[in-house]
Amino acid sequence: MDFRIVKLKIMKKIHIINGPNLNLLGKREKSIYGESSFDTFYKELTFQFPQFELFYFQSNHEGLLLDYIHEHGFDADGFVLNAGAYTHTSIALADAISAVTTPVVEVHISNVHARESFRHNSTISRVCKGVILGFGLDSYTLALQSFLL
Ligand code: DQA
Repeated sequence: MDFRIVKLKIMKKIHIINGPNLNLLGKREKSIYGESSFDTFYKELTFQFPQFELFYFQSNHEGLLLDYIHEHGFDADGFVLNAGAYTHTSIALADAISAVTTPVVEVHISNVHARESFRHNSTISRVCKGVILGFGLDSYTLALQSFLL
């Protein structure tokens, strides 16, 4: 009899979710958000983290962000969420994060605490596993690394 050992590699499913205006990375306020588009950076991330099955979603619409969190938030292993300006306003996003079982790491490219006071408050930090901010696009890299701990 031929017994073969099948090694099943179960990869963590990690979703990067970007909120409003983050589709303009590389074009938008480069002195704050940098020169790279997210698509270019995302390709680098897929090479850097072969241990993850990575997914990417961006929307400028709050409801679509909620739908995405609802749809994937019971089977994904992690969300890396930059909610953009909704970070400072959206109770609905905080409720969605509380409703699902997938742990969420909140990220920001800029150090929001060094900016205008309306950016100092986050409605979602309280319900996130952790928060990483101020490291440019490397904030996403650090957030992904947190799912290796
Ligand atoms: C941001 C900070 C937010 O205040 C802002 O509205 C953004 C981007 C960041 O990544 O630094 O759109 O989330």
